[in-house]
Amino acid sequence: MAMTRSKAVRIDQHGGLEELKLVDVEVGEPGPGEIRIRHKAVGLNFIDIYQRAGVYKLPMPLQLGMEASGVIEAVGEGVTHLKAGDRAAYASQPPGSYCEVRVMPAKCVCKLPDDISFDTGAAMMLKGLTVQYLLRRTQPQGGLQAGDHVLFHAAAGGVGLIACQWAKALGLQLIGTAGSDEKCALAREHGAAFTINYSKEDFVARVKEITGGRGVKVVYDSVGRDTFLKSLDCLRPFGLLANFGNASGKVEPLDIGLLAAKGSLYVSRPTLFTHLATRESTQAMADDLFAMVSSGKIDIRIDQRFALADVAEAHRSLEARKTTGCTILTL
Ligand SMILES: NC(=O)c1ccc[n+]([C@@H]2O[C@H](COP(=O)([O-])OP(=O)(O)OC[C@H]3O[C@@H](n4cnc5c(N)ncnc54)[C@H](OP(=O)(O)O)[C@@H]3O)[C@@H](O)[C@H]2O)c1
Repeated sequence: MAMTRSKAVRIDQHGGLEELKLVDVEVGEPGPGEIRIRHKAVGLNFIDIYQRAGVYKLPMPLQLGMEASGVIEAVGEGVTHLKAGDRAAYASQPPGSYCEVRVMPAKCVCKLPDDISFDTGAAMMLKGLTVQYLLRRTQPQGGLQAGDHVLFHAAAGGVGLIACQWAKALGLQLIGTAGSDEKCALAREHGAAFTINYSKEDFVARVKEITGGRGVKVVYDSVGRDTFLKSLDCLRPFGLLANFGNASGKVEPLDIGLLAAKGSLYVSRPTLFTHLATRESTQAMADDLFAMVSSGKIDIRIDQRFALADVAEAHRSLEARKTTGCTILTL
């Protein structure tokens, strides 16, 4: 079998930045249901940090990375939606996108529209599809209507700035939290109706003030441990807390009686990968995202670029809350 060589970033055990190793790997031909893709750019995500550090435990050795764009080089038996030469992008399990070339399941790989650049494709798939399922599919009883308030934490981050724009396009009043006044200004520029600097303001009190004491219908909370209980206090009766991340650490076990005491609340802990379970759902969600980006309603803002070899610097910046918008690794 013909083999191609690729640079790749691998870890041999969970741990700090020192575990990130640039290595040479051999890449073979795609098997049934697989494709081989030569990357043009790779997306950086907070989940890469959980997987490196061991917040999410995975078998070792592990090639990191969940998002990229590139050109299809070969397709395996049974793959009909892609062919060699196609421009493509994906957010997908299993990890392994931190590399030049890889073989992977075709199911989550989508053709990239010609008007979307490779850099944008690499930056937007995991984060944009996450916003798609959060705002479109993770809703309270009775759904969300134009004019409704929602609270979105970390609103100036990669997922956050896409959410601000998508929420505005849906007519939602997004209240965004962020850790500095500069980040708050950025979230407002991207469509947040209100912002709260939660490093110095009490976000529960401000949400009550903004909503005339009623609270919001949904809180989208990816910060986790530091915000979870306070997020419950921002909800109106029957409201929904969607905890979709743990940037500050995992949420402590919950006494579900609290949900009754605080107004018959709902809690969900969703992940993108349930939504990407089939080729059909992946493509439908991607088509929605592509339409939002191609029409200019959503601008995918790439504020940081690092060479693949400098991946440790990229992780350091994201972990230290020094980034805004999306970050990509260049090849
Ligand atoms: N479940 C899913 O399907 C899914 C999919 C995609 C992403 N996510 C989650 O969504 C979140 C955003 O992902 P992203 O890649 O776009 O990252 P990001 O938002 O660009 O970066 C994380 C942000 O979280 C905030 N944060 C608050 N406390 C923090 C702490 N103790 N340490 C580090 N950051 C902290 C920081 O913003 P401030 O300085 O403004 O606080 C930081 O910039 C992550 O939690 C990620 O795991 C979940």
